[in-house]
Amino acid sequence: MRLLVTGGLGFIGSNFILTMLKSYKDLSIINLDLITYAGNFENLKDVENYGDRYQFIRGDITDLNLVGEIGSMKPDVIINFAAESHVDRSILDSSQFLKTNIIGTQVLLDCCREHKIDRFVQISTDEVYGSLGPSDPPFTENNNLKPNSPYSASKASADMLARAYHKTYCMDVVITRCSNNYGPLQFPEKLIPLMITNAIQDQELPVYGDGMNVRDWIHVMDHCRAIDTVMRKGKAGEIYNIGGSCEYHNIDIVRLILNKLGKPASLIKHVMDRPGHDRRYAMNADKLADHLGWKPLIDFEEGIDETIKWYIGNEDWWRRIKTGEYLTYCEQWYGALKN
Ligand code: NAD
Ligand code: DAU
Repeated sequence: MRLLVTGGLGFIGSNFILTMLKSYKDLSIINLDLITYAGNFENLKDVENYGDRYQFIRGDITDLNLVGEIGSMKPDVIINFAAESHVDRSILDSSQFLKTNIIGTQVLLDCCREHKIDRFVQISTDEVYGSLGPSDPPFTENNNLKPNSPYSASKASADMLARAYHKTYCMDVVITRCSNNYGPLQFPEKLIPLMITNAIQDQELPVYGDGMNVRDWIHVMDHCRAIDTVMRKGKAGEIYNIGGSCEYHNIDIVRLILNKLGKPASLIKHVMDRPGHDRRYAMNADKLADHLGWKPLIDFEEGIDETIKWYIGNEDWWRRIKTGEYLTYCEQWYGALKN
């Protein structure tokens, strides 16, 4: 089997490529990634061991010609991870989100159609469903789409396009919608790696608003296993929710991390809230469990211990990232929050 993975130098894509190459000897991967601020070549430094089973192409999923050329290499499946993925950045400026997340998906879908590629897997998010109240049941695949941020609106648009290509052109498209991932190789702008790395550096831990927003956490390897399951066994045209059934208030995650690192609670700093901040996400992943036999395996306490250890052991990796572009972004973001 030959896969075209897009966005494979990012957090989830690189974990996916590593585990797939290791698990299946008969599988090869083409990785198309633009290497934006979020893409990191170092994430896949170990894939050299896999010789011609791995090929990297630097490029943009919105580039019609390039994507067409790659399509003629006849991958069996396209798995579209490539995206602008950070909600706060989409609040500062949504233009790149619309370009990559919507137009990029359209270009890949057209390539799939033109080259008769067997299957298209769209990696989507629970954020397309909007926000839950404290006692609402978790989202199912039948919930309406009510995205609240420019990021989630762009992901919902891409989902709609993928669905439309299935209906209109009878293409084999499957969509996965996952909750919040954590684990190694996550860019330290996201809650868990930001809090771990700031705490290690004895810097303030910025908690938005009252810190009582809820996220449903899943280890990235459980997510990767779910994607593999859907890619192999999912039914064309279907949507599959993926979640960890592991809801935490943000403030509790932050306290847990401080506790595990032996750092004081005085590092916590409540800052202004994220505009349009979704209060709660929770996923009902029964369809994936009942139809395809997947369930999450990694216990959160164990997963977070292993993740903290990974960041402690890979300081060079994240210290290099927390410079340059990242610092400029932080300045703009906190400047915008104040105004
Ligand atoms: P990430 O930001 O870590 O990585 C994104 C990758 O895409 C980077 O390597 C970047 O260089 C690449 N990229 C960006 N624009 C591109 C373009 N125009 N052409 C080619 N490559 C481009 O993202 P992530 O957290 O790994 O998320 C991957 C996917 O999973 C995204 O589609 C995201 O919406 C989805 N998702 C993420 C989570 C999460 O918790 N992180 C949860 C559910 C779904
Ligand atoms: O739910 C899936 C989504 O999870 C993915 O689709 C997105 O790509 C991914 O970025 C993530 O979105 P969130 O907005 O939920 O993740 P983030 O890590 O940015 O924030 C998690 C929670 O923590 C959220 O309630 C905001 C809060 N937060 C975040 C940051 C960065 C803070 O309180 N302080 C912070 O500094």
